[in-house]
Amino acid sequence: MTQISLRRLRQDPHVRALTRGARPHPEQFIQPLFVVEGIAQRETIPGLTGVYRETPASLLTQIESDLARGVNKFLLFGVPASHATHDIDWSFTAGQIAAVKKKFGKDLWLAVDVCLCSATPHGHCGVLNDSADHLDNAASVKELAAAALAYAKAGADCVAPSDMMDGRIGAIRAALDDNGLERTVLMSYAAKFHSSFYGPFRVAADSAPKTASGLTDRASYQIDPSRAGDALLSVERDVAEGADILMVKPGMPYLDILADLSRQFAHPWAVYEVSGEYAGIELLADQGLANRINAHREAWTGFVRAGASMIISYGARHAKEWLAS
Ligand code: PBG
Repeated sequence: MTQISLRRLRQDPHVRALTRGARPHPEQFIQPLFVVEGIAQRETIPGLTGVYRETPASLLTQIESDLARGVNKFLLFGVPASHATHDIDWSFTAGQIAAVKKKFGKDLWLAVDVCLCSATPHGHCGVLNDSADHLDNAASVKELAAAALAYAKAGADCVAPSDMMDGRIGAIRAALDDNGLERTVLMSYAAKFHSSFYGPFRVAADSAPKTASGLTDRASYQIDPSRAGDALLSVERDVAEGADILMVKPGMPYLDILADLSRQFAHPWAVYEVSGEYAGIELLADQGLANRINAHREAWTGFVRAGASMIISYGARHAKEWLAS
C-alpha cells in the first residue's frame, strides 16, 4: 500500500496558500480604546505596547492614525474622574462618543463597553448591597440600562455590556427600543469568564475590585473557567433577550467554548483577545522567544478557525500590516 502523504500539500508556499482554511482578514478586527478624564497627557499601559490611556484630544488623533492604518471599528472604554455607587453620571463617556462621531461620522463603527467598574469607588461591575457582600442585580441593571441609553443617544453604533448581571440584555434592548434607538446594535459579553488574564486592562480602565469593598473578586458574577454549561446557559438567555452579537472572552483558553457555541448559535460571534493574552505574546516577542507577527497571527487564526467572525484585539491597528506580511 502506498504511503499517504500529508506533506505533499505542505511543500511550497503556493500550495500552502491554496489549501489554507481559516484566514483572519483585517476587516474583522475591532480596536479597543481607553479615554480617561482628568489626565494631562496620554499614558502608557503596562504590558500593552502601543495602547494608551488617551485624553479626549489624543483619542481623536489616535483614531485618525488608526483609520490611516486600516482599522475602522473600535470598542471604547470611558474612564470618568468622578465615581459614584449609584445614579452614576455617564456624561463623560457620552461626550467622548459624541465627539468621535462628530469628527468621523460613518467612517468608523463605534462600539462602547457598558459597565460600572470604571465608574464606581469599589471597582465592581454593578451596585453593591448595603453590607457590601454581593451585587444587587436589579439596581445594577438599572444603572447599566441608563449607561447604554446615554451612549446610544450620543451616537454609539453598538453597546456592549460586560458586567454579567442577569437580565441586562433584555433591559437594555427595551430601553433602547422605547427611545427610538432600535437600530443600535447590542453585543453581549455572553460567555465571559472569571479570568486571570484581565490584569493590564484593569490598570488601563482603573477597574480592579478594591479589597476594601468586601467583595474581593468577580467570581460571584463572571463564569467559572470550568463551567462550559454555564456559558451555554448564559448565551441561551442573552439570545432570548435580544442580543445581536455574542462574545466569548478571553479567547485562547476558551477556544472550545467558541467552537461549540458558534456551531450551536447562528448569531455572529466575537472573540475578545484580552489584555493578558495580548501582553503575553508581546512579552514572548520582547524576550526574543517568539516572532511577534507570526505569534499574533497564529492566535488570530485560531479564533477564526474556532468560529469567530470578529476579533477584538489590542493589535487590531496592526492587523492589516501583520496579515499581509
Ligand atoms: C470590565 C471589563 C473587563 C474587560 C472588559 N470589560 C475586565 C474585568 O471584567 O475585570 C477585560 C478586557 C481585557 O482584559 O482586555 N467589565
